[in-house]
Amino acid sequence: MKLPKHKKKIRAIAVLCSGGDAPGMNAALRAVVRYGISQNIRVYGVTKGYAGLLKGQWEEMDRKSVANIILRGGTVLKTDRCPEFHKKSARAQAVKLMKEAGIDGLVVIGGDGSFRGAHALWKEFHLPVVGIPGTIDNDIAGTEATLGFDTAVNNALDAIDKIRDTAGAHERIFLVEVMGRNSGYIALDVGIGGGAEAILLPEKRLSTKDVADRIHRGMERGKMSSIVVMAEGQVSGGSMKMAEELKKKHGISAKVCILGHIQRGGSPTARDRRLGSVMGARAVEALLAGYSDVMVGVQGDHEILVPFALTVKRSSKFRMDLIALSEILAS
Ligand code: ADP
Ligand code: F6P
Repeated sequence: MKLPKHKKKIRAIAVLCSGGDAPGMNAALRAVVRYGISQNIRVYGVTKGYAGLLKGQWEEMDRKSVANIILRGGTVLKTDRCPEFHKKSARAQAVKLMKEAGIDGLVVIGGDGSFRGAHALWKEFHLPVVGIPGTIDNDIAGTEATLGFDTAVNNALDAIDKIRDTAGAHERIFLVEVMGRNSGYIALDVGIGGGAEAILLPEKRLSTKDVADRIHRGMERGKMSSIVVMAEGQVSGGSMKMAEELKKKHGISAKVCILGHIQRGGSPTARDRRLGSVMGARAVEALLAGYSDVMVGVQGDHEILVPFALTVKRSSKFRMDLIALSEILAS
């Protein structure tokens, strides 16, 4: 596949985080800064994503400025969602300010929305730009992993293991709601790893009756406590609504536990630190080698460059068979 290339000499780059924060973003930032400096380029850290970019909010970073951040969740650069960036005039302003500051290229750490903004910068202004997939949802096509997914899944599993103790002690049914408004990757891995009796995803919706049937079947086999993992947004009204309907229509009392933003916080796992470190360096390397309009992805044990245009399509490789397997294993 032919990858887009730029012809600019890169002497200075900017780096920003955009969209929802993800554990591992700091590891990526550290790598961008330190690898960049090792290649004799200047690196500017932009605060608050695209919102900061279009106001020229950046500072040159040195090796020391990223000391001791690899172990921290969130992002020291801060992140934001910036509706204004949907306008070409806002993007033009950002490019103008970068040009005036002598910044030749950009690294964007974020999700598919952030990549749409980055793609526009290249298409409209030929700004050299490379992306690093940073989202706990793991819903970016073209890469097997995104920053923060592993940490979020492990955070949620930690919580489920604790819920199991109390669910077992009281013989209760729990509905555990995990993140992923439009994507079930977190729910799938948490459901499998947590031994959930049922997993509900945006990609595989179950009716209240389906869930009730599963719980009843478990009870018939002598299971007195069950955990159902559901992705947020799987049903309108979420887990609270599901619990109400289970009670009203099927006489099942279920406790609800919404894990929420706890999943996104905390120290990144070893996997997310490694991913951030490698992707950060590869992103700088790609810009210096003349590539643009691409994301650094991983495939097996290799890093690859994937055109932004291919990253925004949802992967069709969702492992539905694993849902069926997890139900067999939990029975
Ligand atoms: P994520 O990057 O995690 O998917 P969002 O979808 O919220 O998060 O996108 C983050 C930001 O990227 C938006 O607030 C906006 O500034 C920018 N963005 C998203 N889509 C576009 C687009 N089509 N054109 C320009 N900028 C966009
Ligand atoms: O995209 C990451 C994510 O955590 C989703 O899983 C979730 O639906 C959304 O962000 C929550 O966004 P916010 O932090 O703005 O509530």
